[in-house]
Amino acid sequence: MNTTVLIAQSYGSADKVLEFYTQELPPLNSDMARIKVKTAGINPIDARRMTGEFKHGNMPQTFGTEFAGEILEINSDNNQFKVGDAVLGSGGSFTHATVIDVPIGNLISKPESMSWEVAGSLAGVSQTASTILDEIGDIKSLLIHGASGGVGSITIQLAKERGIDVVATASSKNQDYLKKLGAVPVIYGEGLVDRLKEVHPEAFDASIDMSGTEEATQASLSTVKADGFIGTIAGKLVSSPRVKPVWVKRNVNNLKHVVEGVAKGKFYWEVDKVFPFEKAAEAYTYILEGHTRGKNVLQF
Ligand SMILES: NC(=O)c1ccc[n+]([C@@H]2O[C@H](COP(=O)([O-])OP(=O)(O)OC[C@H]3O[C@@H](n4cnc5c(N)ncnc54)[C@H](OP(=O)(O)O)[C@@H]3O)[C@@H](O)[C@H]2O)c1
Repeated sequence: MNTTVLIAQSYGSADKVLEFYTQELPPLNSDMARIKVKTAGINPIDARRMTGEFKHGNMPQTFGTEFAGEILEINSDNNQFKVGDAVLGSGGSFTHATVIDVPIGNLISKPESMSWEVAGSLAGVSQTASTILDEIGDIKSLLIHGASGGVGSITIQLAKERGIDVVATASSKNQDYLKKLGAVPVIYGEGLVDRLKEVHPEAFDASIDMSGTEEATQASLSTVKADGFIGTIAGKLVSSPRVKPVWVKRNVNNLKHVVEGVAKGKFYWEVDKVFPFEKAAEAYTYILEGHTRGKNVLQF
């Protein structure tokens, strides 16, 4: 069976380096499922690896860390899934391809009522948002910088579910959206600290930054308690040793919790744009602008 994979043989902009490569798949390894991919979310990290901001692994590099699709073949005694099942899950940097092989343990069932676009967009953000809150621990108030994107949208709602007061930043166009998710919205940019203190005069127990800006670091240092947690998921250089990097930990139970919550309408979720796989270069260029609301998805 053949698969067509999105690859890059050098670092650079999407229109220059992204290409499609078709190859034959080897026999399926044990405890793996072969999936016909229907949709796959695009993470900013995919586009940042493409440009060379993150230099991981050898060339050619492949992309994509999440997917939804149908099982074509299974090589396992585990009878939790069967051929034809609709599933979703995570895979490490190879899901932007028409057919992929994934460990069975990474899969969960796609709720019948959930669209393919939504199903393919949730694995990365769900597990990252859960990791953030688990690492921060027991708190009463949380500041989130850059919260209208994928990770922020879910982090706000998981924090509210845990009874945490959330103040979140985004641009002016996303203030109503943040409010809808349950946060007190604040516009980032000049005067940020004053606006944060106006809506939340007490110091925050913790903050987490999705944007990687110096402004976010300085605002956290000015508004979080002296012994409070200040974290970032942005993977950018930070100017203070107080800012702790947080990296996603994969956990299918955390994924299931968010997927079921979205399916039941308990959590709100938006897919920003859906791009056909052939238009991957357009999608990666859009992601790099950094103003996604919710998530962008490739459709196969
Ligand atoms: N550490 C990990 O394990 C991990 C996991 C997943 C993602 N990440 C990284 O985490 C970051 C966030 O991911 P994401 O998927 O949520 O990103 P995203 O969907 O692209 O969201 C970007 C967010 O940043 C906001 N923003 C843009 N410019 C800003 C500024 N100058 N100041 C403050 N906020 C600003 C945007 O709001 P507006 O649109 O309103 O401007 C939006 O809310 C990315 O860099 C990604 O690579 C890391």
